[in-house]
Amino acid sequence: MEIIRVKDYAAMSEAASTFLIERINRLDNPKLGLATGSTPEGLYKNIIEKHKQGDVSFKNVKSFNLDEYVGLEKNDPNSYYFFMKDKLFDHVDISLDNVRVPNGVAADLQQECQDHEEAIKAAGGIDVQLLGIGANGHIGFNEPGTPFTSKTQVVNLDESTIQANSRFFNTIEEVPTQAISMGIDTIMNSKEILLLISGESKAEALAKLVSGEVTEEVPASVLNNHPNVTVIADEAAFSVVDGK
Ligand code: GLP
Repeated sequence: MEIIRVKDYAAMSEAASTFLIERINRLDNPKLGLATGSTPEGLYKNIIEKHKQGDVSFKNVKSFNLDEYVGLEKNDPNSYYFFMKDKLFDHVDISLDNVRVPNGVAADLQQECQDHEEAIKAAGGIDVQLLGIGANGHIGFNEPGTPFTSKTQVVNLDESTIQANSRFFNTIEEVPTQAISMGIDTIMNSKEILLLISGESKAEALAKLVSGEVTEEVPASVLNNHPNVTVIADEAAFSVVDGK
């Protein structure tokens, strides 16, 4: 695991966009695993800027999103499909035929999970998986205790995750209690992983990750077993590691 320490959120977003654009330009048909949340927003903004300057094209890119809330329609402003269109897809030259976000309102959610797995496999696997991290160490929506062998599945959200994500909703009751999430094994099958960590609220999670202990109680700790992981984290995220 390579850990790159940067000053702040802006520096993390800059380093992450340079990293991702290098891969998109180097690979013939890049397959990206994409993430939502506040963490990658700055990265997406930078990519849009660099796309406008002609530094990167998504013409040959296929993307697969990590997760989606169960019960939210694509056009719901809180759905991750909406987030991806709003923050990235609508502003770059990616074809919507080449993007896949799990469908949280599928009539058969189990089938949808299987379809997500199969679409990733049919594309030849994910080249670069982008990840954020939950304060409790979750990746995607894989909460503490999720088996490392898990594939894409319907998951129940932790109370702490519902609380954390309620900032995007009018009331906490509106936050879905379930999601479809790529599994830990799905994530680990990516050829390369880029994990972004910013802010003091993630400092505990970063400290657990770098402690080296691999446990299902800290889902992100599994990344210690992956051969090609880059973590870009800012000063605030290092506060616990630094003993502050
Ligand atoms: C959410 C998402 C994750 C994300 C994490 C952190 O619940 N499912 O994919 O990485 O929690 O979110 P944020 O970047 O907003 O802190």
